This record gives sequence, C-alpha cells and structure tokens, in this order.
Amino acid sequence: MQENFSLKPYNTFGVDVKAKYFIEVQTLEELRDAIHYSKNHDLHILFLGGGSNILLTKDFEGLAIKLSLKGIDEKDLNDNEILVTTKAGENWHEFVMYSLEKNYGGLENLSLIPGNVGTSPMQNIGAYGTEIKDIFVSCSVLDLENLELKTFNLEDCRFGYRDSIFKQEGKGRYVILEVTFKLTKKDHHIKTEYGAIKTELENLGISHPTIQDVSKAVINIRQSKLPDPKETGNAGSFFKNPTIPLAQFEDLKRKFENIPGYPNGDVVKVPAGWLIEQCGWKGKQIGNVASHKLQALVIVNATENATGKEIYDFSTAIINSVQEKFGIELEREVNIL
Ligand code: EPU
Repeated sequence: MQENFSLKPYNTFGVDVKAKYFIEVQTLEELRDAIHYSKNHDLHILFLGGGSNILLTKDFEGLAIKLSLKGIDEKDLNDNEILVTTKAGENWHEFVMYSLEKNYGGLENLSLIPGNVGTSPMQNIGAYGTEIKDIFVSCSVLDLENLELKTFNLEDCRFGYRDSIFKQEGKGRYVILEVTFKLTKKDHHIKTEYGAIKTELENLGISHPTIQDVSKAVINIRQSKLPDPKETGNAGSFFKNPTIPLAQFEDLKRKFENIPGYPNGDVVKVPAGWLIEQCGWKGKQIGNVASHKLQALVIVNATENATGKEIYDFSTAIINSVQEKFGIELEREVNIL
C-alpha cells in the first residue's frame, strides 16, 4: 500500500490529485483484504478501473483500489457461439483485439474504446450501432454490503443508454469482477448501418466487410476525430446526448432549421456535440481546458496541467450556454468525484 499517492497516471484526464492510500489488487483475495483494511480503518474506498470515465476534482482522503484482476476464459456453446469470460482488469481494446484475432464476432464496433472490461457494464458502453448489452450474458460482482459474490444477468443489469443498475440503485454497492459475453464464431452479424462506418468502408474500397474490416473502419473514424488520451487528457464524450419531447424538438426546428435529431416514438435524441458547437464552444480553450476541435462533446486537458475543478467549471459553462440557447439541460456522462 502506498501513501499520498498521485492518481495522475490512473485517470485519462491526467488530473493530478492524490489518494491518501493506494493499492493495486490482482486477485479476489487481495481485493477482500483491501476492503477489510478500509473497514477496519474507517476509510472510504474509490475503485479505479481504466480511469477513463472519471473526473477527480479533489484529493481523495480514503483508500483508492486499482482493480487489476486479469484473465480470459472461453466456453463453447455450440458450433457458432462461444461464451467468453473476461476479468475486470483486462483492457477493453486489447480484449476486442484478442477476440478479433480469434475471429470471434460481436465486439468489433466497440474497438478503441478506452477503459477496462470491468467498467464496461456500468454505463453500457456503446459506439457505432452496438452497445455491450447486445453481447452481454452476465457479470459476477462482489457485494460490498456482505462481501458475497453475486451474478447479474442481462435483465438484472437494466441496461439503458449509457446506463445500468450500477449507476442507479446499485451505485457504489457492487464491484464488477468479471464479465461474460456471447460471441459468434462464424455467422457474424456485421453492423454497418451507422453512416460513418458505411462511408469509411467505401473509402477503404471494401464492399463485403469482415468483422476485422469493421473494426478497422471504427478505429479509423475514432482516430480521425477523438483525441488519444495518451496524448491529450480526456474522458471521451463528457455529456450524454439529451432526449427531448417531440413537441419541444418541433419548436426548436422552427428556430434552428438545421438541428439534427433521431426520433424514437414521442421523444427525439439530439446530438449534444451539435448543441455545444452551435454555442461556439468547439475548439475553444479557457485556461488549461478546451472543447476538442474535432468533436465538441469531448472536453480535453489541453495543457496537461488542468485541475479537475477547472474541467468541471468549464463543463458547467457549457451546460449554462446550451440551456440558455436551446432550453435543453445537458447531463454529464463522466462520473464526478
Ligand atoms: N456533431 C456536431 N458537432 C460536433 C460533434 C458532433 O455537429 O462537434 C453532430 C453531428 O451532426 C454528428 C452528430 O453530432 O452527425 C453525431 O456525432 P458522432 O457520430 O460523433 O456521435 P456522438 O453522438 O457525438 C456518440 C457517443 C460516442 C460514440 C459515438 C459513435 C454519446 C454520449 N457519445 O457520440 O461515445 O463513440 O456516438 O457511436 O452517446 C463516449 O461515450 O465516450 C463516446 C465517445
């Protein structure tokens, strides 16, 4: 265990805050020991996965536990389907690459998403027409109330858009230890409906894409507009895309005729990136913080010296502008601590 430990390498924003205590755990036993220690010493716990969806605004006075449980297990279901169980501490993108090397289908649209496997169910990570709920079977968790193991299946998780039980009533109660996915071995369901994928595959001259081609297209798209956290601190989309009533959307359409929207019954999902750009934030920098020049929804630690508070204040200013111009309240997607 380390004391007064900088968490800068453990959050993709690269914010330099300290944890009073820090420990990295590789096994369930080590995790249980660390939790016992925190209970005996009356310390709050902060669990760290890949650190890609968190904004640390102040020093943490408790015990930060970095989850580094590793390992991948496979179990054939039939001649086309396989169950793959992956421990929480495996890096998400490396896991996607592993599955593609073995020609297992289902994860290709989720290539290059930062973070670890263990946090993927928290907000039902999604991109380019796929969410993990599409291939999710179950996850096993440690219940912090009684330190017992529990399994959550697909229905138990109550997945929604960037949402799950782990962000709602289960918040702070469970530590995800491993996740089981159902992948295909040969009859892959190729998803290329998302416009940007279609265009990229055309650019690559591919008319009958394999799962590896889809992954390549997704990687190209992401690299062309999303900043690499290794180079510029960020946490991907900072806000969720808001959903507004159809009537409100129609009102807005009269005033802003180019407003994009994806109708779904009597509500419409509006791209937050567009709203933020219209308010003049795209590429704008204040002090150490900026809205990314190629994707306004992403807030970046432009100088690598931003504090969590500066980033938080910048996000509040964006929320206020969008509220004022469009009457829409943006919700942060990133967890604030
Ligand atoms: N747009 C703008 N200006 C911008 C950015 C976006 O006008 O600066 C508009 C455009 O009209 C564009 C539309 O927004 O057509 C959608 O943009 P994009 O395809 O980049 O997707 P997004 O809605 O901004 C979401 C996810 C991303 C995911 C992409 C692709 C959320 C909060 N974000 O972004 O997820 O990669 O779709 O599926 O749903 C993440 O969660 O961290 C993340 C990066």
